[in-house]
Amino acid sequence: MTQSDELLEHVRDRYAAAAKAVGSGSGASCCGPTDALASISDRDESDIFGAGRYTAEQTGDLPAEAVLASLGCGNPLAVAELREGERVLDLGSGGGIDVLLSARRVGDAGFAYGLDMTDEMLELARANAIKAGATNVEFLKGQIEQIPLPDASIDVVISNCVINLSTDKPAVLAEMFRVLTPAGRIGISDVVAEDHLSPAERAERGSYVSCIAGALSESEYLAGLAAVGFADAEVVFTHEAAPGMHAAVIRATKPEGATAPPATTWTAPLAVAAVGESSCCSSGDQSSCCAPSAKAECCGGHAHVSGSCGCR
Ligand SMILES: C[S@@+](CC[C@H](N)C(=O)[O-])C[C@H]1O[C@@H](n2cnc3c(N)ncnc32)[C@H](O)[C@@H]1O
Repeated sequence: MTQSDELLEHVRDRYAAAAKAVGSGSGASCCGPTDALASISDRDESDIFGAGRYTAEQTGDLPAEAVLASLGCGNPLAVAELREGERVLDLGSGGGIDVLLSARRVGDAGFAYGLDMTDEMLELARANAIKAGATNVEFLKGQIEQIPLPDASIDVVISNCVINLSTDKPAVLAEMFRVLTPAGRIGISDVVAEDHLSPAERAERGSYVSCIAGALSESEYLAGLAAVGFADAEVVFTHEAAPGMHAAVIRATKPEGATAPPATTWTAPLAVAAVGESSCCSSGDQSSCCAPSAKAECCGGHAHVSGSCGCR
């Protein structure tokens, strides 16, 4: 198994646990967003991530489990300005909140797909769609690096705090471009780093699974979008997620005349990723609780850079 495969499995395990925290028999009455968040982070991040980014009007008549499972860092609906009749794809749809809201917005003439790799999340999202009575939705199993939809079949790609989790970001950006119709657009929420932060400094601020260590910087995002052919790209910071790192809105369009994505040589920086984090403390914790001189002892004699296995 490559390090990237290991990291992907780690992400899948953590989000499966988050889905179970919401969807377990205890249900909405005793599980809250913090329970789901606790599965992906050991910090209280409920003021940065979760359902607080939606208006009461938006969430009022959604199934409680869809709202409780909200683990995003924004509200891509507010970003994408969806219109009646559009076909929408949500990358990393989780418990389905953005798919259900999109489906409502595009109406019966439109359609909303959710794509997620985690069975437990798909099960939760499909149950939520039934509870919501949504008929113009479908939740697909798959990876955002290899979208199981034809070329030029989608008008708007949305995503809420997922692209930072990908171990192959160039593939995700190229796939978004491929599935969009010409003049199609992206309206994405994601965590984005200020340009001066190195991958190691990003990893010091939080773990990979809690959407911090794998974040692109603003200029990396813009370069990646341009490299696969997007036009009019912008990254707008909305609120701070960690020092020098922000929840952000990312918009771009596929030019009218575009067909196939151009070959790209753009490579995302390698995150200082925490494979094996699950049995260790977060990279944020370890930077404060593991002095370099103590690392050999607390990490069992292995050499560890910041962001890898920690001191618990
Ligand atoms: C931070 S949660 C966000 C869920 C949802 N967008 C929301 O706002 O609540 C990340 C979701 O993306 C999924 N995910 C992460 N990496 C993925 C990948 N490479 N391919 C498909 N799904 C992925 C996880 O299973 C999880 O459901």
